[in-house]
Amino acid sequence: MTAITENMDSAESLSEEKETTSFIKQFDLTPEAEQWPLVRQWMKDSPLPFYKELRAKRPALVTPECTLVTRFEDVTEILNQPTIFTVDLYKPKMGAYLMTEDDTHMHNTEKEIMLSLLRREDLPRIRNFVAETGNDILERAGDSIELVNQYGRLVPTLMVQNIFGLDGINPNKLIEWSYWNQYDAFRNQPFHESGNSASVHSKTKQANRMLGIYVGFLLLRKWWHIFRGKPKNDTVSRMLQEHYPKETKFNILRQGINAGGLLVGAVETTSEAVAHIFTQLTEHPDMFSKAIELAQQDDTEAFDKICWEALRFRPIAPYIFRKAAIDYTLGRGTETATTISKGSTVLNVIASAMFDPVAFEDPDRFNPERSYGKSFHFGFGSHECMGKIVGMMMIPEMVRQVLRRPGIKPVGPMKYLGKPFPEQYRFSWEK
Ligand code: HEM
Repeated sequence: MTAITENMDSAESLSEEKETTSFIKQFDLTPEAEQWPLVRQWMKDSPLPFYKELRAKRPALVTPECTLVTRFEDVTEILNQPTIFTVDLYKPKMGAYLMTEDDTHMHNTEKEIMLSLLRREDLPRIRNFVAETGNDILERAGDSIELVNQYGRLVPTLMVQNIFGLDGINPNKLIEWSYWNQYDAFRNQPFHESGNSASVHSKTKQANRMLGIYVGFLLLRKWWHIFRGKPKNDTVSRMLQEHYPKETKFNILRQGINAGGLLVGAVETTSEAVAHIFTQLTEHPDMFSKAIELAQQDDTEAFDKICWEALRFRPIAPYIFRKAAIDYTLGRGTETATTISKGSTVLNVIASAMFDPVAFEDPDRFNPERSYGKSFHFGFGSHECMGKIVGMMMIPEMVRQVLRRPGIKPVGPMKYLGKPFPEQYRFSWEK
């Protein structure tokens, strides 16, 4: 596909481009059974030119496995209609967690309660904790580190222990339980390479049995501190001390499930975001230098922007998936109107929507001053990330601490090692 990539540098070249080099043309000529694997490959190898062509010519691409939605306005239209485009695919993966429900009493009530416990006034404390913890790990590492396991997964886990309160356990256990849950829900669906593998699902169930036992004892321990008048200042302790109206049905079982959710949401997402930001800074060397310069400043506003811009070029996942509850026509009345059939899977390709000039000015340019604005890094609509304010502190601060090492540089590329999330990424610096 090199010829295609070279031909797709701008919207102008797109219109002049010969039909024979078109992704869509090639897609249409491919036997049905091979279409989705081909698309998946393009999403890996040449995402931006592929999405650019789709946005221009076939904004909703129907494949036998799923439909890709690529324009900003269509993605927001879908994510704004949670009862039509549902999170049903999460249901077999996440049990009875709030995230598996669309606009129900349980989803809306529990999300509001949890959001009220993740307080904005804690953010400076969270940022300081992340800065100090990150700095400590890097200092102890000497002059090099394997960024994913020794840092990317560890820092958010220590945050989950200290700030959210899931303490008293080896962090590696928390990392393992969180990993299987994220793998099963977000990388083990029928349209993924693993194809809804039963063994991944059973590993997750096993992990959740252990997580359930741990959380049970954790709540007892926290409750004991409260009973003795010495509550800890963490999210789980706060959750236990609040009084909830009966109508919320936020009983101790629901509280336990939500304590587990605080862990699962935080670790793999943060680790992946940090690794992806570094890949993009590395691919834009001038931005790598600029980020190093900004990392030295005390005011972090400009530094944070460069991180979100890097993540726009490689978000943690290229899409947010939903299931269509009815037949639904996108782009009704236009030349590209496409009907999405009831029951089909829709991939809302945020990696494309964040390059749509309708919403992002001069989208192909890495603009370090671009504000977070309409980015989808933490989702959009009623399922927007519950931990967004925490993630928006933690991720850039983790990147910043690394870039404050003198002579910091990657030692080789980020590697997956055959796994669904980044697994290895080495960095070194001068001591
Ligand atoms: C810091 C701890 C975190 C917690 C406790 C957390 C928790 C959650 C929860 C509960 C939801 C579902 C909300 C709902 O269904 O209404 C959610 C959604 C989401 N989170 Fe987080 N999250 C965290 C961090 C992150 C990070 C670091 C990222 C990425 C950089 C992220 C990306 C997302 C996205 C994209 C969604 C939307 C999923 C969808 O629409 O299907 N989260 N998060």
